[in-house]
Amino acid sequence: MQDPLSRRTFLRSVAAAAGGAAAGHALASADELGGVAQPSGQGQAAADGGGGQVVISSANGLQATAKAMELLEDGQDPLDAVIAGVNIVELDPTDHSVGYGGLPNEDGIVELDSCVMHGPTHNAGAVAALRNIKTPSRVARLVMERTDHVLVVGQGALRFAKAHGFEEEELLTDEARKIWLRWKEARANGDWIAPAQTKPSPSTQSSVGSDMPLHPLGYEFTYGTINCCALDAASNLAGVTTTSGLSYKIPGRVGDSPIIGAGLYVDNEVGAAGSTGRGEAVILNCGSVSVVEMMRNGATPTEACLGLLKRMADHNHDPRLRLKDGTPNFDVKMYAVRKDGLHGAAAIWSGAKYAVSSQGKNRLEECAFLYERPNG
Ligand code: GLY
Repeated sequence: MQDPLSRRTFLRSVAAAAGGAAAGHALASADELGGVAQPSGQGQAAADGGGGQVVISSANGLQATAKAMELLEDGQDPLDAVIAGVNIVELDPTDHSVGYGGLPNEDGIVELDSCVMHGPTHNAGAVAALRNIKTPSRVARLVMERTDHVLVVGQGALRFAKAHGFEEEELLTDEARKIWLRWKEARANGDWIAPAQTKPSPSTQSSVGSDMPLHPLGYEFTYGTINCCALDAASNLAGVTTTSGLSYKIPGRVGDSPIIGAGLYVDNEVGAAGSTGRGEAVILNCGSVSVVEMMRNGATPTEACLGLLKRMADHNHDPRLRLKDGTPNFDVKMYAVRKDGLHGAAAIWSGAKYAVSSQGKNRLEECAFLYERPNG
């Protein structure tokens, strides 16, 4: 069931969903927005479709949604289903934004973040800056099930995983190492020199899985990530987010993905939401919990995702992170499914898709968006 919204309806509902100052902004004129371009309003016709079991994911999650749906149809718990789904991507060396094969930190070491949340028990678990374990989502679930805590990080997370039988493995693939070396060689200090036949330049850095047009420092970075949320036949919800995080990050940097309320949130009475893209922006705007709260207040999933992204753009005051017209120079995507099966997703910039499995079809759907990309 398609749920296209008129532009007027979109603005009114974003205002209602976002509440307070953000609502005022959504309805303000371009001048009142202080030079920040208004949302194009062209992204509002997202694919909200209601009813039955639903699995949604980021665009790199088509295999994850298919697997999770298979398990839901088999009667399995929605958390087991989404974790099994994202495990496929965590173990895939060709996805450089998640798990094994993810791009490393600035020292060439892969550090993974993940969290899980289970609607029926309203419990969650998370790990951050976890090294040498291919499937951090499984460790996050163990934190939920086998500790009195929600978040365990770094060496403590690794020791906890090993105590539960996980084996340490090298996560940096040869391909990811080469991409990291090109990044190091392109840096200004000249200590690391590229092979003579290659001509590294900032604009040719990896864009695999990129969620950001261009980093303010001039390199393309990736924030990648997979989020996957499911609604089962009994209307129970669960979600997972897992990532290798920002490529070439400062060791120990933690993004939104393992933060409950930022990279993932589930309220079994309302819905589930998750994010990919620039984690710092998601953390600063309490992304996923805000989307769920907007849905609680009556927004559709698409409206809620757009409402949060509009708030994020309004809050983006740092000149390093703004294009000339005031719009963000990064991207964030929010994904949401409501308890009645309506689902939607939105990105700051046009052209994004998300994965959906429902009503017997596993496919990519268009994300709604705030702004049309300048070059298509
Ligand atoms: N959203 C992934 C990250 O920022 O680490």
